[in-house]
Amino acid sequence: MEFPHLMQSFQMKNLVLRNRIIMAPMLSRLCDPDGIVSQKLIDYYAERAKGGAGLIIVEYCYIDEKESKANQGQLGAYSDQLIAGLGDLAEAIQEWGAKAILQICHAGRSTSAKFMGRQPMAPSAMPGYTGEMAREMTLEEIEAAMDSFAEAARRAKTAGFDGVELHGAHGYLMAQFLSPYTNRRTDIYGKDRGLFALRTLERVRARVGPDYVVGYRMSGEEFIEGGITLEETRAFARRLEERGIDYLHVSGGIIEVGEHFVIPMYFPKGYLLHLAEGIKQAVKIPVVAVGAIHDPSLAEESLKKKRADLIAMGRALIADPELPRKIQSGRPEDIRTCLRCNEGCSSRVRQGKTQRCAVNAEVGRERTLKIHPASKPKQVVVIGGGPAGMEAARVLALRRHKVTLIEKENELGGLLRYASVPDFKEELRSFLQYLKIQVKKTGVEVLEGRRATLDLVKELNPDAVVLAAGSTMPVPEIPGVQKSFAASALDLLSGKFQPGDRVLVAGGAAMGCEIAAHLASLGKKVVVVEMMGGLALDLENRSRAALLHLLKERGVSTFLNWRLEKIEEGRVLLSDRSGNRKEVGTDSVILALGLKPNQDLLEPLRKSFPEVQVIGDCREPRKIYQAVHEGFFVGRTI
Ligand SMILES: Cc1cc2nc3c(=O)[nH]c(=O)nc-3n(C[C@H](O)[C@H](O)[C@H](O)COP(=O)(O)OP(=O)(O)OC[C@H]3O[C@@H](n4cnc5c(N)ncnc54)[C@H](O)[C@@H]3O)c2cc1C
Ligand SMILES: Cc1cc2nc3c(=O)[nH]c(=O)nc-3n(C[C@H](O)[C@H](O)[C@H](O)COP(=O)(O)O)c2cc1C
Ligand code: SF4
Repeated sequence: MEFPHLMQSFQMKNLVLRNRIIMAPMLSRLCDPDGIVSQKLIDYYAERAKGGAGLIIVEYCYIDEKESKANQGQLGAYSDQLIAGLGDLAEAIQEWGAKAILQICHAGRSTSAKFMGRQPMAPSAMPGYTGEMAREMTLEEIEAAMDSFAEAARRAKTAGFDGVELHGAHGYLMAQFLSPYTNRRTDIYGKDRGLFALRTLERVRARVGPDYVVGYRMSGEEFIEGGITLEETRAFARRLEERGIDYLHVSGGIIEVGEHFVIPMYFPKGYLLHLAEGIKQAVKIPVVAVGAIHDPSLAEESLKKKRADLIAMGRALIADPELPRKIQSGRPEDIRTCLRCNEGCSSRVRQGKTQRCAVNAEVGRERTLKIHPASKPKQVVVIGGGPAGMEAARVLALRRHKVTLIEKENELGGLLRYASVPDFKEELRSFLQYLKIQVKKTGVEVLEGRRATLDLVKELNPDAVVLAAGSTMPVPEIPGVQKSFAASALDLLSGKFQPGDRVLVAGGAAMGCEIAAHLASLGKKVVVVEMMGGLALDLENRSRAALLHLLKERGVSTFLNWRLEKIEEGRVLLSDRSGNRKEVGTDSVILALGLKPNQDLLEPLRKSFPEVQVIGDCREPRKIYQAVHEGFFVGRTI
């Protein structure tokens, strides 16, 4: 077997896990408004249990009807009335052979009065990430919060969960007590910052008994000035072990700096592994590592080198619920790779929406969006082999349509071939590979190196046509743009253009910033010029924070609120809105200024065929999320 350590079973008390892959807890917002388990939520988790994970840690639940709620649409464990639904959920997971643990959480200051109609409370009075001021908890309130944890744990056990996980990470109440950043109390809970968690554990244990699995999620380090460090969390881990915790699940960061735990593509994979390793060296109980450990080889190697005992994967199992089963059956090439883009999961739930995924349109709609064979198979031509065209072709072929995919280049991939060039886009390269393999495996006929024309499509005589011809990068009307030392982002990424030592990138949206970071990694001296007042404004917050960090780390300079006016040999001229001008010396100029849809074929096709669908960037230049989702839905509806 290729991944023997990952696929090895694991025993924790009486709990036997079929392998060492754990689904990390993740807010899905798929429950009913009062935190009651819904059918959608059951379907979502059942799909992941069916996909082969050894253990599923169900998303954080709030534990009382007062201040503990962290988010709208959060799952609840606050009342006995919720036990029935939680029981159905646990059962649906266990029926597929996975074990189920429920994560229980008190928000502390990391919430808003909007959610419960009460001012948030915390160990010490200070504002939370929403900017709302939290008040200091009284000793009675501390007692009540510990009891609420114990009661929630009892409900989890009654419902049939195999264990509970205390959420002591990411800056929620338990972590707030532990951290010097948030706990400035002078009473016993301030003098011993670990006391709240330890006393809570004692009460939980009293309620669930000695044989029940109780785990603890911690931030090994908080990545914030004045926050907790590994040295202190190692010592605290030993205390938890002495008091009978069954496992430690080591994440990092706090919600204010969420890029350090929902780790975007701009930070390296295995970003938090050193923290799990550090904790593991301090204790004997099982340690779970998490944080961008999506690559099965990295997971395998981490277990082999004993850096951790178990591996939790979050977004990797949103993107592909079947990841464990694909590993088990020796088909890792079929894994649909999570891009670590946060577009569908983290970003959407932060906006109050349900969880979705850029590369998997079925997420959150597992029951309604199952792919079924078409009642009448058709002949379908798909024009364009980018992500939109490939996803449409894949789904159409799975539905037993006869599909011909035409791509004018000699290789499939569309813009992903260029988008995936920078060093930090490994996942995008892997996703591209996945799509190519699926197109092949599903039996799509591919015409590569053939430009689709109306005549060619007519020759193929399809019942339906899908136009997924993407977009092109128009040459902007800037004096000097045709000079040999200026080129488009695509010419640079395709290797057609070789830049000099000093490069100016015009356009500071995500594309321009990524190109700048890429060039800087090649040793170039890079400047980004952007008309707007900020960089990468088209990215979701956590990705943006990480990309800005990367630009800083790689020494990229920026000019904000300036536009490129003229390109000359050895320099460019910039202007601002007030009419000021300045010169900047550079050897090369890269234009990363936007795209225009390729719609030339649209009207002629509409006149000739009864069913023509336009998807992806060809409809309007956007992102992989839209390309994949539109490809999926077209594949499902034809
Ligand atoms: C540098 C760069 C980085 C990017 N990074 C990201 C990112 O990190 N995350 C993200 O979400 N999005 C990113 N994007 C955007 C993303 O790549 C696009 O949204 C996505 O590729 C659109 O997919 P598509 O299939 O609609 O079009 P494309 O990917 O453009 O594919 C269209 C295909 O159609 C082919 N074609 C066109 N005309 C014809 C014809 N007449 N006959 C046959 N074939 C034809 C083209 O050759 C091409 O292969 C990036 C884009 C760029 C340029
Ligand atoms: C949409 C989303 C919701 C999350 N909700 C929780 C949660 O309820 N409890 C928790 O401890 N961590 C939560 N996290 C963090 C994940 O459990 C995990 O630590 C993180 O995504 C890193 O793992 P990954 O790189 O494998 O995704 C969430 C992450 C995401 C993307
Ligand atoms: S939306 Fe992006 S980051 Fe989130 S699971 Fe899907 S691919 Fe991964």
